[in-house]
Amino acid sequence: MRNNRVCLSLLASLFVFSAPLLAKESATDNYNTYCVQCHGMQGNGMGLNIRDMSVQPRDHTDFKSMSARSNEELFKVIKEGGGALSKSVLMPPWGSTFSDEEINDLVKYLRVLCKCKQGG
Ligand code: HEC
Repeated sequence: MRNNRVCLSLLASLFVFSAPLLAKESATDNYNTYCVQCHGMQGNGMGLNIRDMSVQPRDHTDFKSMSARSNEELFKVIKEGGGALSKSVLMPPWGSTFSDEEINDLVKYLRVLCKCKQGG
C-alpha cells in the first residue's frame, strides 16, 4: 500500500516537472514575447520601439488592411521577414525562431486580433 503511494507521487512529480518542457508555446505567448515590442501590447502597432523606427509596424487590429492580406502572405512575412513581400526589413524574419506550425498559429492569432479573415 505504502509503496504504491510513493510510486504514484513519484509519477505525479515526474509529470509536473516535465510538463513545461513538453508544453508547446502558445501563439499568444509567442506574440507577447516576440512581437509586442514593435506591434504593441494590444497588437495595435504602438510598441515601445516605434519612436526610433522609420517605418511603423503594422496595426494588427486594423480590420481593413489585415483583411486585404491572405493567410499565405502573413505566413510568408512572418517566416521570411518584411523583405519577402517588398516591405520594410524592420519586420524581422522568424523562420529560425518558429516552426511552420507555430507560424500558422501566429497567423490564426493575428486573425483574432483583427477580428477579420482573409478577404474580409
Ligand atoms: C523590430 C520590430 C518588429 C518586430 C519585433 C516584429 N515586427 Fe512585424 N512588422 C514590423 C514593421 C516595421 C512592419 C511594417 C513593414 C512595412 O509595412 O513595410 C511589420 C509588419 C508585419 C506584418 C505585415 C502586415 C502587412 O502589412 O501585411 C506582419 C504579419 C507582422 N509584422 C507580424 C509580426 C509578428 C507575428 C511578429 C512576432 C513574431 C512581429 N511582426 C515582430 C516590425 C516588427
